[in-house]
Amino acid sequence: MSVTELFDKAAAGKRVDRITIRRPDDFHVHLRDGAMLKAVLPFTAAQFARGVIMPNLVPPVTRVAGAIAYRERILAARPEGVDFRPLMTCYLTDATAPDEIEKGFSEGAWVAAKLYPAGATTNAHYGVTDIPGLAPVLERMEKIGMPVLIHGEATDPAVDIFDREAVFMEQSLLPLLKRHAGLKVVVEHVTTAETVDIVRAHASRAAGTITPHHLVINRTSIFQGGLRPHLYCLPVAKRERHRLALRKAVTSGDACFFIGTDTAPHRRTAKEAECCSAGVFGGATALQTYVQVFDEEGTLDRFEAFASVNGARFYGIELNRGTIVLERRESPVMAAVAVEDTEVVVFQGGETLPWSVGEVSP
Ligand code: NCD
Ligand code: ZN
Repeated sequence: MSVTELFDKAAAGKRVDRITIRRPDDFHVHLRDGAMLKAVLPFTAAQFARGVIMPNLVPPVTRVAGAIAYRERILAARPEGVDFRPLMTCYLTDATAPDEIEKGFSEGAWVAAKLYPAGATTNAHYGVTDIPGLAPVLERMEKIGMPVLIHGEATDPAVDIFDREAVFMEQSLLPLLKRHAGLKVVVEHVTTAETVDIVRAHASRAAGTITPHHLVINRTSIFQGGLRPHLYCLPVAKRERHRLALRKAVTSGDACFFIGTDTAPHRRTAKEAECCSAGVFGGATALQTYVQVFDEEGTLDRFEAFASVNGARFYGIELNRGTIVLERRESPVMAAVAVEDTEVVVFQGGETLPWSVGEVSP
């Protein structure tokens, strides 16, 4: 055995049990409104300094005034002493006006706009029916340097649900990237190996968020021992080879990948129903899950970039100053969070996770 090999072995054998990183941000969060907002916000706020807030309320956040009002409701719902900062987004529709987009961006009311193909997911029925027709809005965003966040799934019901992301990438995303060569694009909740490659190939101005659940479940998990509604989200989890590609992408150290948990709470009654709503509530266990993946892949030294640096750099916002500790300490996860007369089931709830969130310094 060479000296180098010996050294590598020794280094690899040294188990890291605690890391302190710059405070992270979550670039894809559904906080909802009202009682649900109040119930789920503390979990995201305990882990992340900032969150990019998805606008798919009913009705959606499409105007500057609506974004400002929603931001105020989020700030008011924060527990006492919590400094979580919501970064708002605008929901694009066929009727979105370029001037409204620019107004919100220049006034700081929102940091990005979300493109849902009409009908693609929860509350996406107000979304865009004609993406090429959105050109005037996207041209303006390109000009002012405002990112578009894309839910990348084809909506043609004839397309197999497991192929919807791949079809969207070929039919809609690649042409859009070509038409708008300087537009900043975040491909949200990447779920396939091919999308990972597309993001990498456009890394100078494109990025991808990856959820914790897509790193630990594949499509078979949804049917493990029966149908598991709490693992159903959109885009739906794919084959094992895709899960492995996602784990490689997040742990690669590449600057084009960062956290977007897509934490999407639904009431138990809406999940355990004849027609189950799409969405996984991963907000309470996000960092524990991500750090476990980095630990298992032997890349803990790369966690801070993925969690706390890459996203802020892409958005062009300053890095957080404080720190958070993540430690190898087993902790049981609560099974569910109460909301009014029902509850929201927590992703990995009821399990014991090997990593825990430690001290946060603002
Ligand atoms: C999200 C929701 O519930 O708002 N659902 C989901 O399955 N991820 C919407 C979305 O991001 O697709
Ligand atoms: Zn989402």
